[in-house]
Amino acid sequence: MKVFIIGAGVMSTGIAQVFATGGHDVLITDISESALLNSKKSITKSLSKLVEKEKITEDIKINILSKIETTLNLKDAKDADLVIEAISEKISLKKELFSKLDSICSEKTIFATNTSSLSITEIATATKYPERVIGMHFFNPAPVMKLVEIIKGYTTSSEVYETILSLSKNLGKEPVLC
Ligand SMILES: NC(=O)c1ccc[n+]([C@@H]2O[C@H](COP(=O)([O-])OP(=O)(O)OC[C@H]3O[C@@H](n4cnc5c(N)ncnc54)[C@H](O)[C@@H]3O)[C@@H](O)[C@H]2O)c1
Repeated sequence: MKVFIIGAGVMSTGIAQVFATGGHDVLITDISESALLNSKKSITKSLSKLVEKEKITEDIKINILSKIETTLNLKDAKDADLVIEAISEKISLKKELFSKLDSICSEKTIFATNTSSLSITEIATATKYPERVIGMHFFNPAPVMKLVEIIKGYTTSSEVYETILSLSKNLGKEPVLC
């Protein structure tokens, strides 16, 4: 799956590691170039620790890192199967972002948000296809924490929910419907 992750902060960095470890192609974006550089450095450091602890080999580390790229261009979301938004916790910012993504992505692209407290239904109103919007709430640190809360908005389709549920399980997580 092609996964486009937005925000290169604490959560996005961990989520990117989880998806790349699961074999997915990951592209991370942010408005800040330094955040993108720090994110990649932080993933490299985290994987190096796993090599030191002999949990993964150096070859596996290199393979995981090869699956993660960064971009400053939101339009690179155009080929994504799944977008995961983990920017600052502000509804106006998230709605503006999802509205822009609506005109970039195909109507099949799933829009997941890692919001901790905002309404999925309200975020979904920013898009033409609200049935594709879902909450996928990882916990910090995402590579370690097993729990993923899946939050359906009033408009989220069952198909999108089932896809995110099985994807979370395939990533080795323990998803719970909220
Ligand atoms: N930190 C946690 O423990 C935690 C846990 C679960 C969920 N969350 C949720 O995850 C989300 C992200 O939290 P965080 O702690 O990782 O935030 P953070 O402050 O570490 O990172 C946010 C990043 O988003 C970037 N950003 C802001 N606006 C942007 C835009 N329009 N486009 C692209 N990038 C943009 C910022 O430059 C920053 O790098 C929030 O919704 C938060 O509520 C946080």
